[in-house]
Amino acid sequence: MKNAIIRLSGISVGYDKSPILKNISFEISRGTVFVIMGPSGCGKSTLLRAMAGLLKPLRGKIEVASSSVDGDTMRNIGMLFQGGALFTSMTVSENIALPLLRHTDYSAERIEKIVTEKLALAGVPGIGNMYPSQLSGGMKKRVGLARALALDPEILLLDEPSAGLDPISAGNLDRLILEINRSLGTTIVMVSHDLDSIFAVGQDSIFLDPTAHTITARGNPNDLLRRPPNADVLKFLTRGKK
Ligand SMILES: Nc1ncnc2c1ncn2[C@@H]1O[C@H](COP(=O)(O)OP(=O)(O)OP(=O)(O)O)[C@@H](O)[C@H]1O
Ligand SMILES: [Mg+2]
Repeated sequence: MKNAIIRLSGISVGYDKSPILKNISFEISRGTVFVIMGPSGCGKSTLLRAMAGLLKPLRGKIEVASSSVDGDTMRNIGMLFQGGALFTSMTVSENIALPLLRHTDYSAERIEKIVTEKLALAGVPGIGNMYPSQLSGGMKKRVGLARALALDPEILLLDEPSAGLDPISAGNLDRLILEINRSLGTTIVMVSHDLDSIFAVGQDSIFLDPTAHTITARGNPNDLLRRPPNADVLKFLTRGKK
């Protein structure tokens, strides 16, 4: 593939010796909005954790192209966790400053400026002094997104960004994700089972089958709907429709 930014070769992932997913091989080209689809429990979050370098694969290799000078891959990947994973005892600003404190030696002033910028970019300016418990679900997602963007990563991993939001807020978040992709050129890997979101933002995708424990479809979600490669993909992409 031309200009792959992430390449997985023969990956198995799991939490003990028995893999939840196996024989996972795919590439994501730079600048794509890529969706990981599949029913609940099939291993989407697990695979994303492995791609973020937070879970070591049982087998296989994950390569992430890095153009950062220091070659620090972790710096090049921002992750929005399923449920946000904000630290509840820290303010919004402190949450966003965390990756900057960990990976850079920027001054306090510079960090404060970046925090302000990222909150504005995520569409929640001026809430830096609030605590996560004071935020709505949609605001928490946006703060999680601001934190994921803190280090200007080339790759954003988003785990169910619109889950739990009403359709209008979910649509707004989808538009923000597309805007980040277009304006910054960020490669976006999004786990989702929200059909509106999948069809609206996904340029490329894989489908993970919980019975086969591997990828059983690959391609643009709209193309997969038009020409479903198997019954499970068709069922997944047309559920709730008559
Ligand atoms: N930390 C963990 N330790 C052990 N098993 C885990 C852990 N996290 C997830 N699992 C198991 O791995 C399997 C896949 O879970 P995962 O969270 O990756 O699924 P998912 O596709 O993201 O589901 P959902 O759509 O509900 O978020 C499940 O059987 C789950 O119980
Ligand atoms: Mg999950």
